[in-house]
Amino acid sequence: MEKKPFVTLAQVQEISQVYPTPFHLYDEKGIRENARRLHEAFSWNKGYKEFFAVKATPNPFLLKILREEGCGTDCSSYTELLMSDACGFSGEEIMFSSNDTPAEDFALAAKLGATINLDDFTHIEFLDQIAGIPETICCRYNPGGDFKINNEIMDTPSDAKYGFTKAQLIEGFRLLREKGAKRFGIHAFLASNTVANEYYPVLAKLLFETAVELKEKTGVSISFINLSGGVGVAYRPEQTPNDIYAIGQGVREAFEEVLVPAGMGDVAIYTELGRFMLAPYGCLVSRVLHQKHIYKEYVGLDACAANLMRPAMYGAYHHITILGKENEPCTHKYDVTGGLCENNDKFAIDRMLPEIQVGDYAVIHDTGAHGFSMGYNYNGKLRSAEVLLKEDGSFQLIRRAETPEDYFATFDFTGIFDRYFGKAKSFTVDVSELKSGSIPKV
Ligand SMILES: Cc1ncc(COP(=O)(O)O)c(C=O)c1O
Repeated sequence: MEKKPFVTLAQVQEISQVYPTPFHLYDEKGIRENARRLHEAFSWNKGYKEFFAVKATPNPFLLKILREEGCGTDCSSYTELLMSDACGFSGEEIMFSSNDTPAEDFALAAKLGATINLDDFTHIEFLDQIAGIPETICCRYNPGGDFKINNEIMDTPSDAKYGFTKAQLIEGFRLLREKGAKRFGIHAFLASNTVANEYYPVLAKLLFETAVELKEKTGVSISFINLSGGVGVAYRPEQTPNDIYAIGQGVREAFEEVLVPAGMGDVAIYTELGRFMLAPYGCLVSRVLHQKHIYKEYVGLDACAANLMRPAMYGAYHHITILGKENEPCTHKYDVTGGLCENNDKFAIDRMLPEIQVGDYAVIHDTGAHGFSMGYNYNGKLRSAEVLLKEDGSFQLIRRAETPEDYFATFDFTGIFDRYFGKAKSFTVDVSELKSGSIPKV
């Protein structure tokens, strides 16, 4: 599929006059339309709910948009729970799917009335001691072995740290019921970024059969089945994006084949998507700072892996468009880099692009999920701003860029912070002290 940015050069020039590059930009219209398609695809299931995986893009403005579209949140930590609460999500609008969970995280999840998804058998006792066992509870299932679709191995759950074994689920449900649980759910996440319409239907069938077996063996009532995340997006132009309507229909067929005959036609389907909800509706906007000609041709951006870690961490492909040159032929081969002192800080290697000049705007596609959120401060780099391109074409700052003051904030009990930022600050850099009196503009 041809990959086109959702923003034009003129829009980016306007935005960057107010909020300098680099910044992550999100497309409100795309987010809303996609959420509506998802809900339509699963509208056959009465209890269907999407719990957006906050870890993918923890921004309150985006969470509020998703809330308006009918989504809940899926949290993995104390701060994600706080953010959900702050955005108005409450009680069973929040799923809490975490692992190796600290006591205070369970305590907060219980206080907010979130649905807790236990990652391990031993967490039953742990949760009981901290907050008691709630009436509604979910357990994460790990079937072990290889997870295959059409005989192709998608992932190896037996190597994954998550979830209960089948025997532990059976034992766990009995124990949870003894401790007062009344409504049960199961959850599994068996493969990530699947660009295959079959992923959810195959996973759903496996979970539906497990639910029937659990009901038969333990007598508990299964209220919901959480298919978690894992529905991917087409990062590469040659990939065919998932068809959410085909996915919804495939899950429906498995539901009618397995759950309905077992008298479980009232089970609610939950999803916990992150990437599918936001990745294509975000991009990292940056500018070319330098060009370098050594053994290869390098283009250095003002963004780096600290703004988008996926290429450096997984060798992940992210499409790049040079704004204003969308229709120019890709005649030049470049490595597109950031400025970290790490040779893997490359957004693209040997990428064919139009001829690039210093000052060009480069849009890195599909950064709306697991983009900003995986950012970090290595090399003292500061996190970028996040900007929302609204449905009416206007733009809004939804997170300001970090400043050196933020970077030093955790030293605010030391003299170091005060030297630069406290009342008694004694050190400043004035641009007029520079040789040319100003920072060269790209
Ligand atoms: C428990 C859980 N749920 C949902 C998700 C979202 O996954 P994705 O963004 O692939 O949809 C993740 C991602 O890591 C996860 O760990």
